[in-house]
Amino acid sequence: MKKIAVFTSGGDSPGMNACIRAVVRTAIYRGLDVYGIYRGYEGMIEGDIKKLQSHSVSNIVQRGGTMLKSARSAEFRTPEGRKKAYDNLVANGIEGLVAIGGDGTFTGAKLFFEEYGIPTVGCPGTIDNDIFGTDYTIGFDTAVNTALEAIDKIRDTAAAHDRVFFVEVMGRDAGFIAVESGIGGGAEFVMVPENKSNLDEIVKSFKNLRKSKSSSIIVVAEGEEEGSAETVMKKVKELVKDKDREFKVTTLGHIQRGGNPTARDRVLASRCGMAAVEGLIAGKQNCMAGVMNQEVVYTSFADCIGKTKPLIPDHLKLIEILSI
Ligand code: F6P
Repeated sequence: MKKIAVFTSGGDSPGMNACIRAVVRTAIYRGLDVYGIYRGYEGMIEGDIKKLQSHSVSNIVQRGGTMLKSARSAEFRTPEGRKKAYDNLVANGIEGLVAIGGDGTFTGAKLFFEEYGIPTVGCPGTIDNDIFGTDYTIGFDTAVNTALEAIDKIRDTAAAHDRVFFVEVMGRDAGFIAVESGIGGGAEFVMVPENKSNLDEIVKSFKNLRKSKSSSIIVVAEGEEEGSAETVMKKVKELVKDKDREFKVTTLGHIQRGGNPTARDRVLASRCGMAAVEGLIAGKQNCMAGVMNQEVVYTSFADCIGKTKPLIPDHLKLIEILSI
């Protein structure tokens, strides 16, 4: 293998740049030529591919976003789109790929590998932490800290006015951000897609809490079955029937996707990026490089996207016990 390419795809996450840097520099260290594909699968289809040097990735390890840009490509879902992408890789002499992204990225990479056989190793880049085969994903730690900072600030004003706040955090299919920011921020409740929420239970314990507390924070993951934080707030307000209690909603949204990556995310991103290139050189393909129990592990794309990573069971109990 002489030439490889790296790209970022799907929702960006803080630490993607640190991962790109690790891929580029490990490849050069190992004597490979390395190319950057811009805007993920879109750029692969359009041939937006440029050779990268060691200095191309200077001064990015600390930056959020992705210097290669990112996109979600509808065309890559079609056989014609993937054929164009393959032709562009062949035209550039690319023999291996590093795909940085989440489950959508790996679903595309798996299909592409099955059709065209270009060895591909993935790196888990998503704030949601919902990828099987790695304890944490690149960007999750930064996103949790962003959410936590916001929750701390909301707590100040909630306490000052004796209000109840419903804070919506990201997590379309998974509650990792909600749970960890909830534990760190001392939330009274956390609502996540993995668990069926019982609103009556929440209201009951909520009423009990009122005896000792004047303000509360309820963290709602975006994918919560009962609906958005706004919807949940309205339902709870209706059930609580307390005219004197003020209920407020804050949706954190895309601020969770940006910002300088934390040290944890930079280290994880660097390890995964290096492991992806080392893996390609060693003949790994159709798999992701992640870190579990401090060790680099390679997990097939099929398992990464097919298996569900559960929440840590103790975490929900922790919230219940610590919120009394
Ligand atoms: O990166 C994953 C994620 O943050 C989800 O939690 C969220 O639903 C989604 O991205 C939103 O991303 P976009 O606005 O880019 O479609």
